[in-house]
Amino acid sequence: MSDLSLAPAAVQPPNDAAAAVPRHVAVVMDGNGRWAKSRYMPRYFGHKAGVDALVRVINTFADRGVEYLTVFAFSSENWKRPADEVSGLMGLVLVSVSKYLTKLAGDGVRIRIVGDREAVSEKLRKAWDHAEEITKHNTRINLSVAFNYGGRWDVMQACRQALAEGLAPEQLDEAWLSSRMAMAFAPDPDLFIRTGGEMRISNFLLWQTAYSELFFTECLWPDFGLAEMDAAFAAYARRDRRFGTLRSSSSSAEGS
Ligand code: IPE
Ligand code: IPE
Ligand code: MG
Repeated sequence: MSDLSLAPAAVQPPNDAAAAVPRHVAVVMDGNGRWAKSRYMPRYFGHKAGVDALVRVINTFADRGVEYLTVFAFSSENWKRPADEVSGLMGLVLVSVSKYLTKLAGDGVRIRIVGDREAVSEKLRKAWDHAEEITKHNTRINLSVAFNYGGRWDVMQACRQALAEGLAPEQLDEAWLSSRMAMAFAPDPDLFIRTGGEMRISNFLLWQTAYSELFFTECLWPDFGLAEMDAAFAAYARRDRRFGTLRSSSSSAEGS
């Protein structure tokens, strides 16, 4: 039960079981605003520190063997924030791409942007296209940045594709829908981490997290680092993933 309650930000040293590394980690990077507020700084300062934290931890996740890292950067609902915060975030993305793209590309990170690109500026779309293009042959880790993303939007746009393609009802199944969703290129997340203390999904990967292990921490995103990653991985290694069966994941791993 304790794994599902708020985990302290304190270090939980990895044990032997921590060798079980999640292949795909999804992260709700929450708490930037509160991090800035606690320093009497504007919220933008927290978002900027949040980008720096992300760039710092990508290599750590890659070094641990995580193949896919998917981060929630801007939700479908974040447009409802004050206009200056929204425009600040859009500007920050542009600045961050020019500041960090060369480094990430050199580190072997393959970048993809997932979400509804319709509503963002031409300039931003071009920056993303460029980031995706110059990293497309990288294989060390797959970084997906969910921007203007919503889990409901994702299911809906996949359904729209089914209608547009004239699919008959009996042709529509889970595999077909999955293949048209924004994360079709990746396995479902094994581990879902949310920083910032809130215990909700906030319309992130609703379809894909059906059997993800959930980990919530009070740590605010700009403070997220090795200690919190180890705590999340250690909790993950203790989970018994049954996927609705009666078999424990450890016994199925042993082939029994
Ligand atoms: C998450 O941090 C980043 C975005 C949603 C863009 P918040 O901005 O939600 O920070 P808090 O939750 O207000 O502290
Ligand atoms: C979720 O955080 C979205 C991102 C981290 C990008 P929010 O701060 O928007 O979520 P709520 O409003 O607390 O549910
Ligand atoms: Mg928040």
